[in-house]
Amino acid sequence: MKTTVGVLSAGGDCPGINSTIHWLVYSALDKDLAPLRGTMFQVMGIMDGWKGLIEVKPEKKASLNRWTMNLNMELVRTWDRYGGTRLGTSRINPLDPKNDKSDLIIDNCKKLGLDALVVIGGSDGLGTAYRLYKQGLKVVGIPKTIDRDLYGTDYTIGFDSAVNIITEDIDRLRITAGSHSRIFVVECMGRRAGWLALEGGEASGVAITLIPEHDFVMDRVIELLSMRRKAGQRYSIVLVAEGAKPRGMEPVQERRGRDGFGHYYLGGIGGFVAEEIEKNTSMEVRYVALRHLQRGGAPTAYDRRMGRKFGVASVDMIVNEDFGRMVGIKQNEIISTPLKMVLDKLHLVDVEKFYNTKNYKSLDLII
Ligand code: F6P
Repeated sequence: MKTTVGVLSAGGDCPGINSTIHWLVYSALDKDLAPLRGTMFQVMGIMDGWKGLIEVKPEKKASLNRWTMNLNMELVRTWDRYGGTRLGTSRINPLDPKNDKSDLIIDNCKKLGLDALVVIGGSDGLGTAYRLYKQGLKVVGIPKTIDRDLYGTDYTIGFDSAVNIITEDIDRLRITAGSHSRIFVVECMGRRAGWLALEGGEASGVAITLIPEHDFVMDRVIELLSMRRKAGQRYSIVLVAEGAKPRGMEPVQERRGRDGFGHYYLGGIGGFVAEEIEKNTSMEVRYVALRHLQRGGAPTAYDRRMGRKFGVASVDMIVNEDFGRMVGIKQNEIISTPLKMVLDKLHLVDVEKFYNTKNYKSLDLII
């Protein structure tokens, strides 16, 4: 028996996707496991996410070459150490009610001979996977997003690499901030979730962390910075998540508007905070938005390991016919959760448990 598995990455890229694909392929094509599994596998990469399944003309060779890739061990051998996604990705919404491509996608999967499809995605990509599953496609989801905001898993691929980048960049900014006795406002990503800011802030030891889950008061930010200055601190770093906002205000949106799924692009709150500090104090302020730097570079050891665990588990799920589910990790154990449950809500910071609402930083537990 031969099972053909398709794999695609959807939504924003991040370090660790290639590691996931590498290990998915290595596990699927492991000849020693074939007798146990009762099937041989073949893995087809789909280029540019859902776009590949829409654009591909399965009967045309040139189109197949453009939109699909036969993944074998030799081809993916070194992928595990590289960031981004070698399969490419896109943010298009194939189920946009005004231009629904679900029938075409399902038809193309059939024509490509896919018995199952692994979707490496965040909430939008996995939401699409779930709806296609309800229409009959055999899907398995792998959680990936630097935001780590998916329900049903303690970890999403890419998060650790992004936290490391935030930490390294803040280390760099610290040096120039100290030399000039300046305040630096650093904006990180995360959409509605404050995990990147919270854990990036913890790792780099910033003075103030502002997260979307708790609306901040600008006067309090200024007060905290002034207290630090009076106490003799030459500089301070304020780390603000792109989705954070002052009490009574809406999140700051980018001019480019919404993505294909209708979400506003967030960005600019760091500029607002920096201006307010400069307007209301005599302190010199600089603002840096880390933006897509947070998604670049090689995956950390942790992301490579998680990619390995999730990639291998996704093949096991196909063998066990656990379709319509997402692989995840809870308390260090690999688990799977129905996609429907994953998509019902976002995994946000529990402010009471993790955030000091008086001093705007991580709640450090006193034992
Ligand atoms: O979801 C991951 C993420 O990096 C968010 O943190 C950010 O808001 C968004 O993607 C940026 O998207 P794009 O790459 O389309 O600009």
